[in-house]
Amino acid sequence: MPEQGAPDTHARRADDAAEPDPSAGFATRAIRAAHRQPVVDQRPTSVPIYQTVTFSSGDTAELGEVLTGQRPGYAYGRIDNPTTAAFGRAVAELEGAEDGVGLATGMAAIHAAFVSLLSAGERVVATSASYGTTRAQLEGVLARLGVDATFVDITDLAAVERALAAAPAKVLYAETIANPTIVVADHAALAALAHRHGALYVVDNTFASPYLCRPIELGADLVVESATKYIAGHSDVLAGVAVGRRDLVDAIRSVIVDTGATLAPMSAFLALRGLSTLAIRMDRHAATAAALAAWLERQPGVSRVYHPALASHPQREVATRELRAGGGMLAFELGGGRDAGRAFIDALTLPELTASLGSVFTMVVHPPSTTHRQLDDAALAQAGITAGLLRVSVGLEDLDDLVTDFERGLAAARGTSAGAVAVRAAQPEPAAPATPAEPTPAAR
Ligand SMILES: Cc1ncc(COP(=O)(O)O)c(C=O)c1O
Repeated sequence: MPEQGAPDTHARRADDAAEPDPSAGFATRAIRAAHRQPVVDQRPTSVPIYQTVTFSSGDTAELGEVLTGQRPGYAYGRIDNPTTAAFGRAVAELEGAEDGVGLATGMAAIHAAFVSLLSAGERVVATSASYGTTRAQLEGVLARLGVDATFVDITDLAAVERALAAAPAKVLYAETIANPTIVVADHAALAALAHRHGALYVVDNTFASPYLCRPIELGADLVVESATKYIAGHSDVLAGVAVGRRDLVDAIRSVIVDTGATLAPMSAFLALRGLSTLAIRMDRHAATAAALAAWLERQPGVSRVYHPALASHPQREVATRELRAGGGMLAFELGGGRDAGRAFIDALTLPELTASLGSVFTMVVHPPSTTHRQLDDAALAQAGITAGLLRVSVGLEDLDDLVTDFERGLAAARGTSAGAVAVRAAQPEPAAPATPAEPTPAAR
């Protein structure tokens, strides 16, 4: 079936109209029979999964024109596929971008964005709160290829300005909401700074999704996202996406073709299905996370809670301006340190003990005893992680059930000797009132 708007002139060799040839051998007839296309006159309500690698052309001239982009159409699945293309277009539409393309994973999208923009000897200024694998990519594979990365606290605009002014930078890179303390980037300010210094502003919007934030509308040139998380939303598919200016997305397409970072059609289908329910899921994730964060702020033994909807969040004002709501990610610190963190997680019964985020079920990670367990307390502090920090991806369960489970976890944390000391030490302090603020209509 041709893409909408494309001329329906692609002749097919294994044509529906071609009569079966009974004189052919069984193998030949089986291949022909199995590849005969059903004729569908109705428009399917879901984007079909074009589970094919190859697309036939009528003659060599047509194939040549399709392969060189002189004529719309498909030839080979690594280059393009209708289901995958539909996903890229859909996210672009929702992000308010000119164009978009799906990729195999979020990391593939980030890699393709960097290598499409940066050459040996060029420089990127990146948030120091970037996702760990993004930092590893910049310090590993991209550094080996001669790309220089400077890491900076993107909430300190003066520090960003100094980093951009210190040497020419091709890219300023930030994440809308980032680990470990749910840092919120001020896209409008950062985009203006980047452009003033001749850099492109590239954003990882994974934690927010296009429902909570649209960085393109705030000045970003390119947005990359792990669609594995909120967009697909069910922890059952790996997918990435890049959206932005058409020329920048075209450059990413070239990287995909050359590196094979292609999004598979089945994965694109699942990500498209996720998009349909993104808004309703994000509303629930955000409401439950805001309520849980407010409740956690009142609990003995909890020394700090990070969620953009809390009045205590350091970038509360930016979050109100640029996010529709605070999102489904929160972090909190247990005064009892490493032992309390471990005891909390091990006492929980509802959340999955896994390291991802943005799914229907809640996930709790204690970085000091899992992803960052090789670091001692001093090294953890340098990475902005206290020994008792827990990160929660709040799922779609009922709030009351999560609170009951977290009460169980907190009791276990207080049962550790360090946890008990922390609770006693915190006793004279009145609990800070928590006000999960409503998003302003302007931020929508
Ligand atoms: C902020 C952020 N960006 C990118 C990625 C990479 O996504 P993927 O696993 O789809 O490659 C992740 C994964 O956790 C992430 O948290």
